[in-house]
Amino acid sequence: MALSDFLGELDQLLAAAQAAFSAAPDGEAVEAARIEFLGAKSGRLKSAQQGLGTVDKADKPAAGKRFNEIKEALDAALQAAQDRVAQVAAAPTGPALDPTLPGKKPRLGHLHPLTQTIEDLKEIMGRLGFSVAKGPEIEDEWHNFDALNIPASHPARDPLENFYLSTAEALASSATNDAAPKSKPLLLRSQTSTVQIRVMEKTPPPVRIISLGRVYRPDTADATHYPMFHQIEGLLIDRHVTMADLKSVLRLFAMSYFGGEVHIRFRPSFFPFTEPSVEVDMSWHDRWIEMGGAGMVDPHVLKAVGYDPEQVSGFAFGLGVERVCARRHGVTDIREFYKNDVRFLEQF
Ligand code: FA5
Repeated sequence: MALSDFLGELDQLLAAAQAAFSAAPDGEAVEAARIEFLGAKSGRLKSAQQGLGTVDKADKPAAGKRFNEIKEALDAALQAAQDRVAQVAAAPTGPALDPTLPGKKPRLGHLHPLTQTIEDLKEIMGRLGFSVAKGPEIEDEWHNFDALNIPASHPARDPLENFYLSTAEALASSATNDAAPKSKPLLLRSQTSTVQIRVMEKTPPPVRIISLGRVYRPDTADATHYPMFHQIEGLLIDRHVTMADLKSVLRLFAMSYFGGEVHIRFRPSFFPFTEPSVEVDMSWHDRWIEMGGAGMVDPHVLKAVGYDPEQVSGFAFGLGVERVCARRHGVTDIREFYKNDVRFLEQF
């Protein structure tokens, strides 16, 4: 073969190979081009090498030199193509990062509406001079009943009206038909009035406290009842305390919490631990709603905690937190507070 023919063939081969490598869109196409041009058995460079044997002896050095240059150029074109497709594969597929876009806001939670209400009530009563007292949710019968003048025969003590606890000792005594269990029966407190007793047992008069917390009754859940709910208890003991003081405190409290004009109405009622006793209704935006019970602390209760009823008197009240909160926010069913539906809760 003449040298010029051989060199022409090599140039054509290089041009074709470079075109194929640079057009290959992915690793598969690069590999196919490698086999076509650089394949060890039947690649086009291999066949061109056979042509080298047919070139005149005198032209061989020039033909061999050019052949090596072409081979190097082909190797370089292959390497460049392989690098290019590897880079494309490694590149992120999503849109490029734009640091000027606004960030994503995390969803922040907030306090539950009942917790917010409890905080509001504490704050309002704090301004009226009442400090916060705490009591346990698991109570004995003395604090939940006896000291509150609720005798053993009272229907409010019926096991079906309360959540008594099956303590290990109580269970053992009932299993052995032991008529007098050694342990004191325990129950989940049914009212926050228990805290009145606990505070008065420890503190000499005057007393001015509120207590807020959970109470438990086996009530069927409906729009105004739940088996676990919250109460705010208020207790004021001093000299010459009257029902007028009770009404003033409740009115100031209600006006601060609801905002604007609130009327308080007392309806005669009965609680074993207050005498006289009343149901407290509040009217706000021309609607009356029952909020809780109240009254003058019964002299029997004052005596039970060691106070002298001739020296001091006082009032107590207990309001339902769910009902107060529902009234203020126009919630018509207190069960909403316990469904944990974020669409409801995020409105507060
Ligand atoms: C009492 O619990 C008395 N301890 C209140 C009291 C305190 C009277 C101090 C005198 C002196 P009563 O059972 O009525 O009273 O409950 C008070 C309030 O708790 C009710 O008016 C109501 O607002 C709320 N309440 C009662 N039961 C439920 C319930 N199942 N679910 C939600 N709220 C309730």
